[in-house]
Amino acid sequence: MNLLVTGGAGFIGSNLVRHLVRTRPGDRVVNVDKLTYAGNLRSLADVESAPNYRFVRGDITDVALMTRLLAEESIDAVVHLAAESHVDRSILGPEEFLRTNVMGTFALLEAARATWRDGRRGRFLHVSTDEVFGSLGDTGAFTEETPYAPNSPYSASKAASDHLVRAYCHTYGLDVVTTNCSNNYGPYQFPEKLIPLMILNARGGKPLPVYGDGLNVRDWLYVQDHCEAIETVLERGRTGETYNIGGNNERRNIDVVTALCDLMDEALGVEPAGPRRRLITYVKDRPGHDRRYAIDASKIRRELGWEPRFVFEQGLRETIRWYLDHQEWLEACLDGSYREYYERNYGEKR
Ligand code: NAD
Ligand code: DAU
Repeated sequence: MNLLVTGGAGFIGSNLVRHLVRTRPGDRVVNVDKLTYAGNLRSLADVESAPNYRFVRGDITDVALMTRLLAEESIDAVVHLAAESHVDRSILGPEEFLRTNVMGTFALLEAARATWRDGRRGRFLHVSTDEVFGSLGDTGAFTEETPYAPNSPYSASKAASDHLVRAYCHTYGLDVVTTNCSNNYGPYQFPEKLIPLMILNARGGKPLPVYGDGLNVRDWLYVQDHCEAIETVLERGRTGETYNIGGNNERRNIDVVTALCDLMDEALGVEPAGPRRRLITYVKDRPGHDRRYAIDASKIRRELGWEPRFVFEQGLRETIRWYLDHQEWLEACLDGSYREYYERNYGEKR
């Protein structure tokens, strides 16, 4: 197969590209990425010269470029991850989220529709999020039938893109599959998201900003598990279906942060000033903060035989070790635009 991965220089994308390039030497992987603040070619340094890999810098909203790439590379499947992905940034500035997540998905669908006709078929795998379902109370979990109720500009833009993908299947007969996954963690995640941000700040003895009361719940999935789930759906998912992907691993934010502090103390030793838990600082809540997410992943298990392999405590330990061993990767993220974002987001929360 010739695969086009969009957003392959981001967190999940780079883990997925590495996985596909290494485990499928007979397949070709073309990675198209705009290289926004979240895209980083350092994350792919170890596969950049693989014979079955090509990187193209490009914007997914450029329908002419997307159409050209699909034809030039005889693409059999698009695995679409490119997106603006951070909720807090969507609150500070939603426009880019609509442009990339909605119009970018639309452009890719148009390119696919133009290319895959006259008997030639290709598959469009759309990588989405559990956030489209909104917020849960104390019980229950999102199934594929849960009604959409997005609460942030980010999740609204992802919901819009999910609907477009569905419509292109229903109306034009495009072979689409959609995945809705819970919170990922692991190597190469940009340090704006909870886990890498806390590792970075704990390493530097800086405050660990926990939003609100810290009791919001997320379901955490190790990124390698997500990559394997995407590959499974790509190969065997049924056209027009959606699949929920989750780790069956719900945690309160405060429990994640305290576990991280303890593991950092274990890895680096307790500082003279005291255990790293002392750095935990409650700050003003994220506006519209979803309380709880949980995934019922029984459909993908039942139909496709996928299950997560990684245990959270082990995954967390490995993630911390990776960040401690890759200081240069982390530091390259910390440019002026990062500091500006940090001040804007957290300055408002003091
Ligand atoms: P990320 O922010 O780390 O990476 C996004 C990538 O997309 C970056 O490399 C960026 O340069 C690229 N990109 C952005 N705009 C682009 C454009 N206009 N054209 C081309 N490339 C562009 O995101 P991530 O966390 O790896 O998430 C990847 C996908 O998975 C997203 O669609 C996200 O909604 C979804 N998802 C993420 C999670 C999670 O926990 N991170 C969970 C479920 C679903
Ligand atoms: O559920 C899937 C989604 O998970 C993906 O679609 C998104 O792309 C991804 O960013 C993630 O969204 P969240 O908003 O859940 O992730 P984030 O890491 O930003 O926050 C996780 C939780 O931690 C959330 O309840 C907010 C809280 N938090 C986050 C940050 C950055 C804090 O308390 N302090 C922080 O500094």
